[in-house]
Amino acid sequence: MARTRIVLKDPDRFKDPANLTWERYIALQARERERYLAERAAIPDDALAYRTVSPRYLERAVDQFANNYYSELSATHYIATAAANASFDELKKCCLFQLADEQRHLEMDREVFERAGIPERDWLPAWEAPGTTCRFFRHVLELEDTFEILVKANFVAEGAAGPGTFAVLADGAEARGDLLSAVNHRARVRDETRHISFARSLVKALIDDDPANLDVIQRWQDESLQLFVEVARGGERHEWWEGFLGSYYKIALPLGLRPTSLPLA
Ligand SMILES: [Fe+2]
Ligand SMILES: [Fe+2]
Repeated sequence: MARTRIVLKDPDRFKDPANLTWERYIALQARERERYLAERAAIPDDALAYRTVSPRYLERAVDQFANNYYSELSATHYIATAAANASFDELKKCCLFQLADEQRHLEMDREVFERAGIPERDWLPAWEAPGTTCRFFRHVLELEDTFEILVKANFVAEGAAGPGTFAVLADGAEARGDLLSAVNHRARVRDETRHISFARSLVKALIDDDPANLDVIQRWQDESLQLFVEVARGGERHEWWEGFLGSYYKIALPLGLRPTSLPLA
């Protein structure tokens, strides 16, 4: 029977690539928060109250706001599970730092919804509509295994969504007068970059520890990307999807993973 689980026999193979201690992390968090608050304080009141965007922009942006908010909300939950079930301290530590990051992202995205005046009853339906990343995140929320969560969410999803996508989202929001979203995306990306290198180091450690782990990671990748395919359906998001796969494969293929064969509509 094919293996479904991974064990890291030698935990010393994994070291936090950001080399953070609790002291260093807390200092970094404080600096990030200060920087974020300063950037937000520089946004004119009109823009902060969403009076500078068109009604049409807001109508269409609800889906994007929901995608941001609920993926961060999901992240706070799955990374807490990953921390609770981590088999050694260095791994647990990285998960806990990430939990604090995701909590901050969640607060930023909640504020967008609130300042844009979108009633809370509209948030969840936008997230549950077809063509969002909801199916993927709901799957991750059911998982309990730390390695599986980190491979699927940090390595595959963040690795794919990472820096490129957030830069595009930030520029797009800014061009339409949504300065708060632009500031949020630019703040978020500094943490997500760290989450991706955490995941990359972990995957490398797992493969070095036992080459047979590669098959399990490959299957986790395939399952994850299949859950994302629906977001690319319809052709509208073709460019987004190419960028998404492209940034993921850039980190995954050098580690020995193969592209997933995906039926595209
Ligand atoms: Fe995040
Ligand atoms: Fe993250």
